[in-house]
Amino acid sequence: DKGNHRHFMAKEIHEQPEVVGRTLAHYVNLAEGRVALPEPLPFSFADLTRISITACGTAYYAGLVAKYWFERIARLPVEIDVASEARYREAPLEAGGLTLVISQSGETADTLASLRYAKGQGQHTLGVVNVPTSTIAREASAVLPTLAGPEIGVASTKAFSCQLTVLLCLALHAGRERGVLTAAEERRLVDALITVPGLMAEAVKQEGEIEGLAREIAKARDVLYLGRGTAYPMALEGALKLKEISYIHAEGYAAGELKHGPIALIDESVPVIVIAPHDAIFEKTVSNMQEVAARGGRIILVGDAKGAAEAGLDTLATLTMPDLDPVVAPIVYAVPIQLIAYHTAVFMGKDVDQPRNLAKSVTVE
Ligand code: M6R
Repeated sequence: DKGNHRHFMAKEIHEQPEVVGRTLAHYVNLAEGRVALPEPLPFSFADLTRISITACGTAYYAGLVAKYWFERIARLPVEIDVASEARYREAPLEAGGLTLVISQSGETADTLASLRYAKGQGQHTLGVVNVPTSTIAREASAVLPTLAGPEIGVASTKAFSCQLTVLLCLALHAGRERGVLTAAEERRLVDALITVPGLMAEAVKQEGEIEGLAREIAKARDVLYLGRGTAYPMALEGALKLKEISYIHAEGYAAGELKHGPIALIDESVPVIVIAPHDAIFEKTVSNMQEVAARGGRIILVGDAKGAAEAGLDTLATLTMPDLDPVVAPIVYAVPIQLIAYHTAVFMGKDVDQPRNLAKSVTVE
């Protein structure tokens, strides 16, 4: 049932404040201002020296965001790879270590194979999974559910934001177990987390603006997405979302890589979507935007009012996101990224729920 939406994808984008709220309620003890996992894990992060993450597609990008969180918040090194590479590389995995797999369906063939490989190496396996009855949920030594509910649109939206929510909670839990996150800092981050559903609802208010912008993007042959820090994987995710449903060629890049190649593509015909919350490295991204502007590139800034004012650049559009703690930015910024892809594809008359050549669950490699 699509409710009063035209597509499942639209319904699922709009559902996010609710399902992220539900997921948070499952992972956070509000009274104590701390993360409380739904069940104890069969290992302690205090005993780990590193973790591996494997996943595919959008779930892989959730893992890439999580790498920044685990390394920053829990001071825990993270190896991450797409599951199709991880499964065949035969990387040496330390017995007693942890492989974390992320999957909406819990049935993705490569992700499942990478889980089995890790198990065979004597590792703990932890699944962040949306379908509780899935094979990955059954085979992983522990499961953390995302409570997004059934996701029908082929383009993953609400499963992604719920994956991010669970992964941030897990990073806080790991930080506490490793003794590197103080109770006060955890409380501060939990306070930031619980504002997320409201902030996502705020972000949805940019939809009218995005619909107008989509007409411009629809004319492009190529679109570039740029970001730094956790906005870098968000740039990759934005590009994936746009290409899957609009069939416009899009690429995500770490903003710092611009001058190492992609800047050669910049001209008036290439929209450049810059994802840049006002964080500690915002200034660096501003220099990249200046480089784009100097070459006639048309910038679409996904940022906040403070950043937009500070950058002071002529943009094609600025999608103003609410003020927030930069730690939670990926979850909130998922909304405009998804809406950009959605409205562009709808404007172009594409079948957003059933894009060509794609299946919801990739059970063969
Ligand atoms: O079910 P999974 O999360 O394991 O699926 C992984 C990818 O196939 C999936 O995220 C795919 O990239 C989506 N179509 C992205 O929107």
